[in-house]
Amino acid sequence: MKKLITLLLILFISIQCKKITTFKKTSYQGLIAEKAIVVSARKEASKIGLQILKKGGNAFDAMIATEFALAVAYPFAGNLGGGGFMVYRTKNGEIGALDYREKAPLLASKKMYLDKDQNIIKGKSTIGPLAIGVPGTVAGMFEVHKKFGSLPIEDIIQPVIDLAKKGVVVTKKQEKRLASYLPSFKKTNKDSIPFFNVWKENDTIKYQNLAITFETILKNGVEEFYKGETAKKLVKFIQKEGGIITLEDLNKYKAVWREPIVFNYDNLKVISMSPPSSGGICLAQIMNSLEPFDLHNYKHNSTKTIQLITEASRRAYADRSYFLGDPDFVKIPIDTLIDKNYSKKRMESFSFEKATLSSTVSHGNIQIVESNETTHYSIIDQFGNAISATTTLNGGYGSKLYCNELGFFLNNEMDDFSSKPGEPNMFGLIGAEANSIAPEKRMLSSMTPTIIEKNNKLYMSLGTPGGSTIITSVLQTILNVHEFNMGMQQAVDQPRFHHQWLPDVIKMEPNKFDSITKNNLLNLGYNLDETNSPIIGKVNGILVLENKKLEAGADKRGDDEAVGF
Ligand code: GLY
Repeated sequence: MKKLITLLLILFISIQCKKITTFKKTSYQGLIAEKAIVVSARKEASKIGLQILKKGGNAFDAMIATEFALAVAYPFAGNLGGGGFMVYRTKNGEIGALDYREKAPLLASKKMYLDKDQNIIKGKSTIGPLAIGVPGTVAGMFEVHKKFGSLPIEDIIQPVIDLAKKGVVVTKKQEKRLASYLPSFKKTNKDSIPFFNVWKENDTIKYQNLAITFETILKNGVEEFYKGETAKKLVKFIQKEGGIITLEDLNKYKAVWREPIVFNYDNLKVISMSPPSSGGICLAQIMNSLEPFDLHNYKHNSTKTIQLITEASRRAYADRSYFLGDPDFVKIPIDTLIDKNYSKKRMESFSFEKATLSSTVSHGNIQIVESNETTHYSIIDQFGNAISATTTLNGGYGSKLYCNELGFFLNNEMDDFSSKPGEPNMFGLIGAEANSIAPEKRMLSSMTPTIIEKNNKLYMSLGTPGGSTIITSVLQTILNVHEFNMGMQQAVDQPRFHHQWLPDVIKMEPNKFDSITKNNLLNLGYNLDETNSPIIGKVNGILVLENKKLEAGADKRGDDEAVGF
């Protein structure tokens, strides 16, 4: 009898402790380091970040070096002519976020991309001078240095200058990318630019003019980019090309410290980016919707798990379109959106028996179209500080407009605004007004740099490019670690899927999901699309292991690489 009671007790405890049940531990790992890791889209940038750490710098010093090195080594998305977001957690547990997102120029207006019949003029917000938002990256990096820097800025920027002069070796993936963008470079740029060359794998591209720009910034500080000769050259170039950015736009630009979005999921505390990114709020809504369900027992990428994530995402993205925009311009009901009861209510219409139709769900009728070409890096230093940063030109090589004299591409971030807001949805609600264009407003983003604590200790730093798929890629990576007991590299490597309310379709990485699961989903009424997204996200992350060592996950969908010590 005693034995039976003990058995029943064990059974009861194991049912209660769903998240403690051990799963088969990962059979492989990413880079393991004792103290510090930098993981980014290019090994040249990761190495420069690590060099700064080895010199005694902290994660913030290394961030500045990595961000600037990406502008050299990864011009596809790394930038001086774009912007980004960073979430941090210091070794003392203080958290915060920096917004160095681009802004609409003073001469921008709500209908600037519409013709006289109020139709969107194709390409105007994506290619060429009118697509450019006022760049924030240089202001952001100097703001980080002012608040947290521990090494002199010379020590941080000099290796970047050296890299630009020495040049960067073209990878196979880069060769392909440059070739595919060559026609748009030629179409957009009147002057001949270095990217008119046909670059092949193992060629070295040197960035002499960019090196000079960095040297001038180093000599004269942040003012150089926003008020000095560099600012004047930049404005002259943009205006000569037909753009509307003025010196006053650059003068007025400021990076802004923001409160991150913070929420709990089981024993995790998730710290993610606040508006003008939709990332943190959307992630909170999805995770709040999932928390009551036993994903762990449903198993990784099973029909039920995909269904649940899809339905939670559908509802969260519907809200995103309606409520979110620049918090300096629109009032966002953040507390309600990230409240667990709100998500619970939103999920009341969900059933495992049948797909919910997006047409019966929600707000706004504007499809989210965002570019995929951003880049993410994560750093944990030897002191225990962590940063998570996502930076972007928006599209690959941004507006494709390259300022030869200064040596960098300019963003096309203006396309992240809703060019045609005010369309009433089927409920008569006016969608996307929150993200309409206005002078000096920041455009809504999906970038989701995220840091996670587990039981109040630093646990993870991660993020990804991928436009609107950023949020669901970050989500799935977190769940892979937390619910499915994977290590960081294994979590990053898993096939990913994405649903964003409209279009009402589950995008899947091709040939990665089993046919039984796909048939089940089709039978339940889901639309699947395996053709349009060869990859979904390029997640980079760092996980603090139980033995306090660090494990990196560098996404092999790109040339991403982690280094550490
Ligand atoms: N441009 C991509 C994003 O901000 O989400």
